Amino acid sequence: MIKLGVNIDHIATIRNARGEYHPDPYNAAKFAIKCGADSITIHLREDRRHIKDEDLKTISLNKKIPLNLEIAANNSMVKIALQNNPNFICIVPERRKEITTEGGLNLKKNKKKIKQIVSIFNKKKIRTSLFINPNIQNIKLSKEVNANCVELHTGKISNKVKLKKKYKNELKQIIKCTKYAKSLGIEVHAGHGMDYKTAKILSQISEIKEFNIGHFIIGESIFFGLKKVLKNFKKILN
Ligand code: PXP
Repeated sequence: MIKLGVNIDHIATIRNARGEYHPDPYNAAKFAIKCGADSITIHLREDRRHIKDEDLKTISLNKKIPLNLEIAANNSMVKIALQNNPNFICIVPERRKEITTEGGLNLKKNKKKIKQIVSIFNKKKIRTSLFINPNIQNIKLSKEVNANCVELHTGKISNKVKLKKKYKNELKQIIKCTKYAKSLGIEVHAGHGMDYKTAKILSQISEIKEFNIGHFIIGESIFFGLKKVLKNFKKILN
């Protein structure tokens, strides 16, 4: 079974637009799990533009919610992660001015730091993935820093599919990376920019074990409801 992780950052974005309490990301997390999500992803950004520390606290305290916490590779985020003990960690690059996570980690440049962080989470038995652009060098480096998993950034292929442009080269590259990662014992996930069509295309790659999808799910739920949208994704993925 391919797993579906639901990113609920944009529930918090809507809540924050009014600076009040509704819609509550915690309720969204519980409801998404009830509707068949396999895990919930939240990104605690350094500028706290959507998910807040209190959201992380309440969601992580409910052990019925398998939680994947996305964090930047720095000591203060590692400290917060350890205090909240999520089931999974995904290390992502972060730039304050970006609208969203625009690319994967620069593993070559930050190898030492990321290796040190991965080792902390490995010792705590927290499954850790690295958000990377799909290329062979990144997979090699992920192995060298002892990551359990990689999450391949699917933004490029997703954009091409949406714009009805040729995407076969991106697809080939993703397939090559997933096969290589599997041969090294690294579990492969996919995330960013996916909609029904991209999820369907990428679900044909049997090596990809988990899809993390956010913006499209929340947007589409405005029209059809979260329950229906998650049901559609579960059907597409399996
Ligand atoms: N995976 C990671 C690591 C992300 O940072 C994000 C959000 O940028 C997603 C998945 C979900 O992307 P989207 O909201 O475009 O579906």
